[in-house]
Amino acid sequence: MTETTRIRDALIAAARDAATRAYAPYSGFHVGAALLLKNGDVVTGANVENASYGLTLCAETAAVAKIANEGWIGELAAVAIIGGRPDGDALIGSDPVNPCGRCRQVLNEAAERSQTDILVHCASGDGTAVMTYRLSDLLPAAFGPKDLGLIGD
Ligand code: THU
Repeated sequence: MTETTRIRDALIAAARDAATRAYAPYSGFHVGAALLLKNGDVVTGANVENASYGLTLCAETAAVAKIANEGWIGELAAVAIIGGRPDGDALIGSDPVNPCGRCRQVLNEAAERSQTDILVHCASGDGTAVMTYRLSDLLPAAFGPKDLGLIGD
């Protein structure tokens, strides 16, 4: 197993653990996100739904808020996302969960600040499928802090 694969699998495991703490009583779809920082630390988040459905916070957004609030928005190296319907301790679902459009933009903020075209590992709930992308492939020609002249400050 390569180092890259080992790190990927550890991130997916952290995302899976985070998904157990999702608050998703409306959709029943539990998502976990794990952010790898440049120093090797991992920060996680899970989706937080709301009775006013459109106010839902996605797992990736919750995780990015955590690193931003700790002063680590410029420390992002990679992310893993997993999701599915819970079945006991397991998650059901054989298709990788890709970040929604808003989450791609939110991740781009941290990625640009980190000056890293981060890897995005997208895993299926049942763990049988993983797709890995560069964020720039998921969000080409992104608008971000670089467009406001804020990178390198
Ligand atoms: N969700 C995420 O947490 N991240 C995404 O990138 C896609 C969707 C959540 C939002 C909602 O709570 C549930 O998945 C179903 O859409």
